[in-house]
Amino acid sequence: MTVVDRDPPAPTDLPAVARGDFPASFVWGCSTSSYQIEGAVHEGGRGESIWDRFCATPGRIRDGSSGAVACDHYHRWPQDLDLALDMGVGAYRFSIAWPRILPTGRGAVNEAGLDFYSRLVDGMLERGLQPWATLYHWDLPQALQDAGGWAARETVDAFVAYADIVTRRLGDRVKHWITHNEPWCAAFLGHLEGCHAPGLRDPAMAMQVCHHLLVSHGLAVPVIRARSPQAQVGITLSLHPQMPASDSAADAAAVVRHDGLRNRWWLDPLAGRGYPADAWALLGDQAPQVREGDLQAIAVPTDFLGINYYFPECVADAPGEGALQLRVVPRTGVPRTAFGWEISPQGMVDLLTRVHRDYAPGPIYLTENGSTFDDVVLPDGRIVDAERRSYLARHLAAAREAIARGVPLEGYFAWSLLDNFEWAEGYVRRFGLTHVDFTTQQRRLKASGEWFAQFLRR
Ligand code: FCB
Repeated sequence: MTVVDRDPPAPTDLPAVARGDFPASFVWGCSTSSYQIEGAVHEGGRGESIWDRFCATPGRIRDGSSGAVACDHYHRWPQDLDLALDMGVGAYRFSIAWPRILPTGRGAVNEAGLDFYSRLVDGMLERGLQPWATLYHWDLPQALQDAGGWAARETVDAFVAYADIVTRRLGDRVKHWITHNEPWCAAFLGHLEGCHAPGLRDPAMAMQVCHHLLVSHGLAVPVIRARSPQAQVGITLSLHPQMPASDSAADAAAVVRHDGLRNRWWLDPLAGRGYPADAWALLGDQAPQVREGDLQAIAVPTDFLGINYYFPECVADAPGEGALQLRVVPRTGVPRTAFGWEISPQGMVDLLTRVHRDYAPGPIYLTENGSTFDDVVLPDGRIVDAERRSYLARHLAAAREAIARGVPLEGYFAWSLLDNFEWAEGYVRRFGLTHVDFTTQQRRLKASGEWFAQFLRR
């Protein structure tokens, strides 16, 4: 956080964008996830998750922190729902911590965990906030990891049983369900790069995890539908538009390869096309084991596709590297967030247009979009995060543009309601529209949050 003595100059690149530019039925929301905000990891009968274990391993988290307290949302949720309400959103996307429901991943149900989410959902409904629940936002029960984690087929069955238990209890009130959040991250960051829990580096395992995540999605959807009639059910993918580092044929080919695992590996099987043949061929003996019926299961029809959009990727050829090696190179001369992520609202338009054109998945929701910057504070305590406000406004204009091009985009969820535990970056990266003082747990709306509230009110 940087303290300054006067308001920074207003951004000059703010597009004119208004809520009225969007259809009246457009869903406006904000997103969070359980491990990033809840804290209370030893309360209410919650079991250990892979993120508790990962954070306890020295050197894994940049500032040595964990989600043990995070935003203390487990105790402060009424205030947090009030914040969402005051911001003017109509929907709140949250995730359910599997180890709160089933402390060892399967078997005995922890009623206190179900009660917590039941109260949370009632709290949303009382405030007129539409609950959007994600079943898996990366906090796998550690006991399941000890038994092989997502690389083990049994975890698929455990996920379906967990989905059944949760939707039996909440399915009468939650009408929007997301099976998985960003399976690419869970599989690749957790099992190939090792920078997320469970911190493994095994290419073949990472590919098996991808497959099991997708199968568990496919098998859970009919169960959710049975328990939560009239619900809309979907999955959320992190997708990235790809561009070549040069106009060479080698870089163009590298883009196709990279796109194969980043985007098509997920979109193709969900659309009923099986895994992309070019990506499969490159994997050789790292390709996953696929059982009969798996591809049909993955291709189960859904009601919407959730897309988390953050940044485009620039890809260069890297001869001699394995099929799974990332070949992303930073582009020079482009604006970036403090994370180093390229800022490209146009990339969002291109991505949405492409997904709709190539896959026509039906309604699309942007289930996450947001930015991290070094927040600037005035002596009176106001947080004037001009860059985040500009990021938000420009991406809302991009959403409008995508709709104008015919994309059935039906909602936008800002990441995030609160500053929170940003995984391997700990508390170093702040994505919130609301500032959280992690010593006092005081919440303060940032200028970006005020801007969004005004946008939504008008
Ligand atoms: C996404 C995650 C989310 C958050 C944002 C910044 O990949 O889904 O939990 O960390 O990035």
